[in-house]
Amino acid sequence: GKNEEYEASVTSPVNIAVIKYWGKRDSDLILPTNSSLSCTLSQDDLHTKTTIRASRLFEADRLWLNGVEEQVATSKRLSNCIAQARAFRKELETNSQVVETIATKERPLSEWKLHIISENNFPTAAGLASSASGYAALVQALANLFELTLDQTELSKISRLGSGSACRSMFGGFVEWRGGESPSGEDSYAYCVAPQSHWPSMHALVLVVSDDKKGTSSTSGMSTTVNTSTLFAERVKSIVPKRLQKIKEAILSHDFSTFAEITMQDSNQFHAVCMDTYPPIFYMNNTSKAIVHLVHLFNSQLHPETNAPKGIRAAYTFDAGPNAVIYAEEQHIKELVQLISYFFPPAKAQSFRAYFPDAYKIFESSD
Ligand code: PMV
Repeated sequence: GKNEEYEASVTSPVNIAVIKYWGKRDSDLILPTNSSLSCTLSQDDLHTKTTIRASRLFEADRLWLNGVEEQVATSKRLSNCIAQARAFRKELETNSQVVETIATKERPLSEWKLHIISENNFPTAAGLASSASGYAALVQALANLFELTLDQTELSKISRLGSGSACRSMFGGFVEWRGGESPSGEDSYAYCVAPQSHWPSMHALVLVVSDDKKGTSSTSGMSTTVNTSTLFAERVKSIVPKRLQKIKEAILSHDFSTFAEITMQDSNQFHAVCMDTYPPIFYMNNTSKAIVHLVHLFNSQLHPETNAPKGIRAAYTFDAGPNAVIYAEEQHIKELVQLISYFFPPAKAQSFRAYFPDAYKIFESSD
């Protein structure tokens, strides 16, 4: 018959948390111990591109990540996301008078097998949130292919089943993942706090310190932290809620220095909690630490004529790896890049490209 094959293709961006998600209260449904907040980078830059084809003729669900086949059946997270999206498709097919535009009899897509091709344009698993853009792209592509009538918030709950941080990549701009309280996960979803256009001068500079695969996966790291760190409980209970409130206010009022201070403190606390994990986890290396010092140096500069402090103009943050992301406003980027290039020679710079929302530079520097 006709139309034996359907295809959907999407690109999803990376997001970089300023209030970190670290710790699960339910590891099957991926429900977090605390809410978190991130900025989604520009779609044009660090991203995953995913194409899904559905055919009557395919015999199994298959997935290729950067050209290498992954086993769908043995990955619980992958199968959970696909199963959930299929269940919603099935609902449309059995209830097709609800959506007249969907020719569901001709296309019982919920019963067809899928071939999924996913490519990152940046190093996988180097602490650059590849799982976030990866599962966001997977779920968005499934939603498009299946013509699901769910909004981004509902879709964020499906991508959360793949990787917690992925739910935040379902939106652009400044995004909060509300941790929620319900054991079912119905109140654990992402929403947009402010679009990128709210603060167009905000940039993210990605410094690739190393593109090695990270040592401790976020899943295993989080679970050891939850079970062994005593600092962690304090962070979840009394520190994160206050920081979230304050940083949202800072974003809404374009208060960069408060935004930056909270961002750096939360990154530092996340890594302190990792060190308080037993046995300890170290994600930052000596180059990462040198970058921390450099940003504090930059922020403590005085105006050469008036001697007045120039103020906090940059914020670093590190995820589960040694790479740095530096947030700064556009008017300070040039000076910041000059300073960074001075200490990390441009010979090691790999490429020069745009992020949140514009241009920046990826450095490669061995420790
Ligand atoms: O979603 P995961 O399992 O990749 O965990 C992400 C954890 C951090 O990147 C360290 C923090 C965050 O909120 O993104």
